[in-house]
Formats: sequence, C-alpha cells, structure tokens
Amino acid sequence: MGSKRIAILTSGGDSPGMNAALRALTRKGIHHGLEMIGVKRGYDGLIHGDMKSLQASSVAGIINHGGTMLKTARSEEFKSDAGFGRALQTIAAQKIDGIVVIGGDGSMAGARKLSEAGVPTLVIPGTIDNDMAGTEYTLGFDTALNTILDAVSKIRDSMQSHERVAVVEVMGRHGGHLTLRAGISCGAEAIIIPEVKTDMELLCQGLEQSKKRGKLYSIVMVAEGAGTAQAVAEQIAQRTSSSVAITVLGYIQRGGAPSAQDNFIGTCMGAAAVDYILTDRWNCLIAMQGGRIVPVPYAEAVQQRFAIDRNLYEMAGILA
Ligand code: ADP
Ligand code: F6P
Repeated sequence: MGSKRIAILTSGGDSPGMNAALRALTRKGIHHGLEMIGVKRGYDGLIHGDMKSLQASSVAGIINHGGTMLKTARSEEFKSDAGFGRALQTIAAQKIDGIVVIGGDGSMAGARKLSEAGVPTLVIPGTIDNDMAGTEYTLGFDTALNTILDAVSKIRDSMQSHERVAVVEVMGRHGGHLTLRAGISCGAEAIIIPEVKTDMELLCQGLEQSKKRGKLYSIVMVAEGAGTAQAVAEQIAQRTSSSVAITVLGYIQRGGAPSAQDNFIGTCMGAAAVDYILTDRWNCLIAMQGGRIVPVPYAEAVQQRFAIDRNLYEMAGILA
C-alpha cells in the first residue's frame, strides 16, 4: 500500500496564520511519510479536482504572509447536492484518504458533512472574527486586532486635531468578539456589538458629557453585524454637538503579515493535525480550550458557542 494521501484546503474568509498552519501540516506530514496535496480555492477545488502534490519546498517563504497560498472561496456549489456529489467523486478518484480544512464555522459545517459521508476530515479554526463554536481562538484574530489598533491610533491623531467623534466600523457580520476586544485594547469611548442592545440616546449623552468635561474627541467602535458606521454617525450627528467622521476599516483587517501569536498557534495546530492523522483521530475541530490545543469532535464543538463576556463589555463602559 502507498502512503496516505492527505488533502489540505483553506475555505471561507482568509486569515493571517493560515499559511503557517499549511506549512506545518505539509512539512510535518511529509516528514512522517504522508503525501500532502494542496487543494485550490476551498471546496470549489475539491469539486473541480483543482489540486496538486505539495513538497516541503512548496510552502517555503509563506509563513510571513497573510492570506492563503492555496487561495480560498465561498463555494455555493458545494452546498448543493450535485456539487457535494461531485466533490465525493473527485475525492474517490484522487484516492484521498483524509482532508484537513482550514476555515470558519461554515467550513466546519462542510467538513462535518464530508465526515458524515464517510470522508475523514479535520478542521483548523481560521477566521479573524474569533466567532467559532468549540474553540477559544481562531487564526487571524490577533493579527486583525493589532491592525485595528494601529489604524485607530492613526485615526486618533486626526480626531484630536479636529476635535471630532470617530465612528470606526470593524468586521464581524455575525458577532462582536473582534470589536469588543479591539475597542477595549484601543480605549474606545463606546462599543456597539450585535450581542448587546445599545441605547443610542444614552451613548450620545455620554459623548456630550465627556465633551463638557474637556474630552474633545472620542472613538466609537461598531461591529458590522450591529449596523453601519454611516447609520451610527448619523444618529450621533443628530443628537450631539460634535462633528462626526466615519472610517470603515474593511479588508485591511484581514490582510498583512501574521502576528507572532497567529504564526505560532497556526504552526502548532498544523503540527497537531498531523499527530491526529497518524493516530487515526479524525472528524474533530483542532480547538484551543483553556489555552491548550485539543481535538473536539464536531458534534461537541457545535454545542459550545463562546458567548461575549458581559463583564468585559461592562468594564469597557466604566473605563470609557
Ligand atoms: P467560514 O468558513 O469563514 O464561516 P463560510 O460560511 O462562507 O465561511 O463557509 C465557507 C464555505 O463552507 C462555504 O462557501 C461552503 O462551501 C461551505 N459551507 C458552509 N456551510 C455549509 C453547510 N451547511 N454545508 C456544506 N458546506 C457548507
Ligand atoms: O472573515 C470573516 C469576515 O471578515 C466577516 O467578518 C465579514 O463579514 C466577511 O468575512 C466578509 O467577507 P467577504 O466579503 O469575503 O464575503
């Protein structure tokens, strides 16, 4: 019998640290005699057979880059019965023994469906949103936080000079983990996230009061899932005497060189995946729990959604 053929794909929104995971998986897998195959464009590549064997040298020079060397996609076709069926045919034709998926919740749902159809899979959590069930950490979160921090410190200079209120829109279509952590880390005056109802009247009163106390500029952070910066700015402009400026941080949050933390955790998760493959422990999320990397079966992972820490949210309000 030949060596095991293991496919790797990245899926959903790209995030810094995906390349580190891919590099560790590839090199440690090859070290242990596995054949590692890179699938292009997430589940689309699985459907269309867009894949090739990876060598140790194939993943050289990628650890310091954001994005994903394999490219990624949101594959609608894979969600259809026809697309899923084609993917199963390709997996059988290519004699793939198992698949490691790097991505978010949606990607994990796809991996779980493959597992249920008899294809062994593992998932490494990757999304800047840090909103995945079953894991305390997802690759890219730390890099995105640092990018936001850097952007806000630049925005502050201008706000201070013009004595304005800055409304900064942060990514997170389904949740406010990134906005809450970023808002606390950069000392925002107000944080608006989908998990907590915001009283805009109260928020605006707070901004007016701090202006009266001599605070001549403020930072208001809003998660995209809680509304647009435009809508929030309009309300602030109507209810306060301040001039308001909008920044939508957008895709700069997803790119850039990964932080040490994302590369380190990405590398450890990639290496852990090879350990699980070698010991035949499939159909798990390679999760971070209590600061340790542990395999969590999909069925368990989806039950464990990490809620927003209300204490942190309230602390941010006190400190503002
Ligand atoms: P993320 O993985 O970052 O959450 P998406 O939600 O876009 O990103 O999911 C990535 C891809 O995973 C989708 O484009 C689709 O191909 C696949 N996927 C998502 N949900 C499912 C599902 N319920 N069943 C099968 N595949 C899914
Ligand atoms: O990567 C997650 C995420 O950044 C969400 O917060 C955001 O809403 C979404 O991706 C947007 O991604 P795209 O425009 O690529 O679909």
